[in-house]
Amino acid sequence: MEVKIALIGCGTVGRGLLEILDRKCSQLKDAFDFEPKIVAISDLHKGSILVPDGIKIKRLFAILDEGKRIDQYYGEGNTAELINPLDMIEQCDAAIIAELTYTNIQTGEPATGYIKKALRSGKHVVTSNKGPAALHYKELQNLARKNDLFFRIEGTVMSGTPVFSLFECGLIGTEIREIKGILNGTTNFILSKMETDGLDYAAALKLAQERGYAEADPTADVEGYDAVAKVVILSNVLLGGEVKPEDVKREGITSLTREMVTAAKQEGFRYKLIAQTRKSGDGIEAVVSPQKLPLTDPLAGVMGAQNALTFDTDLMGKITIQGAGAGKTETGFSILADILTIHRHLRLKH
Ligand SMILES: NC(=O)c1ccc[n+]([C@@H]2O[C@H](COP(=O)([O-])OP(=O)(O)OC[C@H]3O[C@@H](n4cnc5c(N)ncnc54)[C@H](OP(=O)(O)O)[C@@H]3O)[C@@H](O)[C@H]2O)c1
Repeated sequence: MEVKIALIGCGTVGRGLLEILDRKCSQLKDAFDFEPKIVAISDLHKGSILVPDGIKIKRLFAILDEGKRIDQYYGEGNTAELINPLDMIEQCDAAIIAELTYTNIQTGEPATGYIKKALRSGKHVVTSNKGPAALHYKELQNLARKNDLFFRIEGTVMSGTPVFSLFECGLIGTEIREIKGILNGTTNFILSKMETDGLDYAAALKLAQERGYAEADPTADVEGYDAVAKVVILSNVLLGGEVKPEDVKREGITSLTREMVTAAKQEGFRYKLIAQTRKSGDGIEAVVSPQKLPLTDPLAGVMGAQNALTFDTDLMGKITIQGAGAGKTETGFSILADILTIHRHLRLKH
């Protein structure tokens, strides 16, 4: 079955998704009767195209790999005007919009506007963008339901490592008492290097920047803002809360010294930047802070840029998942997983 898809934003995650669709196209057709057709792309930097018959992915890669704009797809020197994402949503006949632009954790814009427009235009939405998911999840989910559509956000927490789908399928029917975990790979890498290589904070941060784990401005990671966005999403989606980023008590890792990390190790503990959320009375208590975990805690064994979450559930006790928290293929996969879920429902409907 043909599934028409349009991309808003074609950076790391967009490219990751396209590479998977290209590489696994016959497997996905044989296994799931899934025949994706990319009918439009709008990217602020690289340009935009509308191709109702479906973009030839290899041809697009050849253009991008030469450093050319996406609109060169129409032909050499044929630079088209940028199609604004809002116009693209209207003009294309995609069933699914993949919203893959940058995360704005202050307002969630412009992505939230794109998502609303798509849902009001009868198009399903999948996104890895934390802004709309952290700030406007309930509103967007209600809008999707009202229009009999899907709004799916698997990639917003732990990239393609299943978090939300785990509670739709494998752990369906369990109630979560508490969620606790490592949701930021950059800080976990820094803390790991401070312990295993005896680096001080500044040297470990520099190494993280050299390896591409940390941004030139690392504030969002090291001060815990990125983990706050993710713990807000977990609180609202999995615990049914109405938590805002400012409700989360937050402390980053910048006050941790090599001496503190070494002393903790000698006592049989390890520092981790922990994001934690649980129901408390009628509300939710959510916090992001460095915690000294005993080495027997599964989260203490998670080193490098990996992420992990421990779910404390009523029927299964504690379950810990560990996996990638970022990456081109891993996050591209999260988008594919959400698209395939929608495709499964559409097939059943037909
Ligand atoms: N990469 C990961 O591992 C990962 C993991 C989890 C979640 N995410 C989230 O997934 C989203 C995409 O991440 P990414 O790594 O692919 O980012 P990226 O490489 O920066 O790509 C985003 C693309 O969207 C374009 N863009 C920005 N604003 C736009 C707009 N208003 N309209 C159209 N295009 C726009 C950007 O163009 P310019 O370059 O001109 O800005 C860029 O090409 C982000 O929200 C990110 O937080 C990423």
